[in-house]
Amino acid sequence: MKFISIKQAMEKSSGEVMIRGWCYRARSSNNLAFIVLRDSGNIIQCVVEKANVSDQAWEAALKASVECSLEIKGQIKEEKRAPTGFEISVSEINIIGESDTFPITKDHSTEFLLDNRHLWLRSRKLSSIMKIRSTVFSAIRKYYSQNGFYEMHSPVFTPNSCEGGSTLFEVKYFDDIMYLTQSWQLYAEAMIYSLEKIFTIGPCFRAEKSKTSRHLSEFWMAETEAAWHRMDDMIKNSEELVCFIIKEVIEKNSEELNFLGRDIEKLKKVSAPFKRMTYTQALDLLKKQGIEVAWGKDLRTIEEDEIMKNFDQPVVITNYPKEIMAFYKPEDPKNPGTALCFDFIAPEGYGEIIGGSERELDTEAMKKALIKQGENPEKYQWYFDTRKYGSVPHSGYGLGVERVIAWICGLDNIKDAIPFPRTMIRRTP
Ligand code: 4AD
Repeated sequence: MKFISIKQAMEKSSGEVMIRGWCYRARSSNNLAFIVLRDSGNIIQCVVEKANVSDQAWEAALKASVECSLEIKGQIKEEKRAPTGFEISVSEINIIGESDTFPITKDHSTEFLLDNRHLWLRSRKLSSIMKIRSTVFSAIRKYYSQNGFYEMHSPVFTPNSCEGGSTLFEVKYFDDIMYLTQSWQLYAEAMIYSLEKIFTIGPCFRAEKSKTSRHLSEFWMAETEAAWHRMDDMIKNSEELVCFIIKEVIEKNSEELNFLGRDIEKLKKVSAPFKRMTYTQALDLLKKQGIEVAWGKDLRTIEEDEIMKNFDQPVVITNYPKEIMAFYKPEDPKNPGTALCFDFIAPEGYGEIIGGSERELDTEAMKKALIKQGENPEKYQWYFDTRKYGSVPHSGYGLGVERVIAWICGLDNIKDAIPFPRTMIRRTP
């Protein structure tokens, strides 16, 4: 006989089954022990009757404590009063790994749970989120491969900044200094000359000094880069990707979304095309809501939130001021002073989920912008080569995977969207 999952056992619904997992709850009286067992998919009530089992099995049942690992054999049957509608009448039970008193019970502080993240990951809340995270990653891969993009990779150690020096992590690299990647973009721009349409999902690092509920110092970004693509093509591509991810999660994880208390109807409403506005129009809207932002200043979290009070779907904001944008974002010839770039802002206060742009083709303009930012253009010589040999218009974007997960799951804090979060003040476990 083979071990099967609790879900398979419940599908079988009668007869003998062998299951294994961890003790979720246990209580016993003189002749009867109730053990709720969990595996990665479900929980089930198991009943051990002293009269029906060996002395060794009865001893194991009495010894079972929260989170010990167990193997159980018994007869499964429907039982309406049991937590998941089924019950196993146990014939054999073995403790595989004993458990000390599990430190997590009820009503702990957020910090305590973060300190014990390695154990808290077993909770139904975090396992539900991590299952959704897994769906989000596979949806991203599925969307891109269905649309002819190749998956490609860039180094984590980089000699250059991509998104400005202020959030770079420096690392000792033999006798030199390197940086942890902020984005694959510069390498992607070199790779499109052979593969044209590419994507990646990889970790990115930003020394963010902010302690907001939206910032991690290590997060995962899904990035894409494509030759011949203009900003509009990329906005459409991003819209499709967001809708595809949501559709896949609703299809595969409605149980988890329900457990998390997420209003699925809100997610079902998300459909492209999303509302678009320029940065200048966004400032006008803010002004109507009584908030003055001087033209040329970046939109902060509070301003994004204010704008999003008007919408229940993502909004695409384009044409931010060229001066405050990264060096690789070109000026829009139709709207001088602004860049051919876009951000997607999620509803319900989840902030910017995507940032993208067309790419500057004029190396002199890029050199000037780099110097202005205090960078040494000589370090970017290899990157400028990409414009020297058959340069083509191209565009790309990056989607913050944890931001999207936080939004889809309706989380209070982005930290719960990643198994082991890293922020300015959280580096363990
Ligand atoms: O807008 P960003 O900085 O864009 C880039 O890095 C481009 N080079 C991407 C590209 O065009 N290939 O970052 C992209 C997205 C943001 O919209 C946000 O969702 C997420 O990455 N992000 C963060 N997520 C969590 N914590 C942080 N500290 C983040 N910084 C950016």
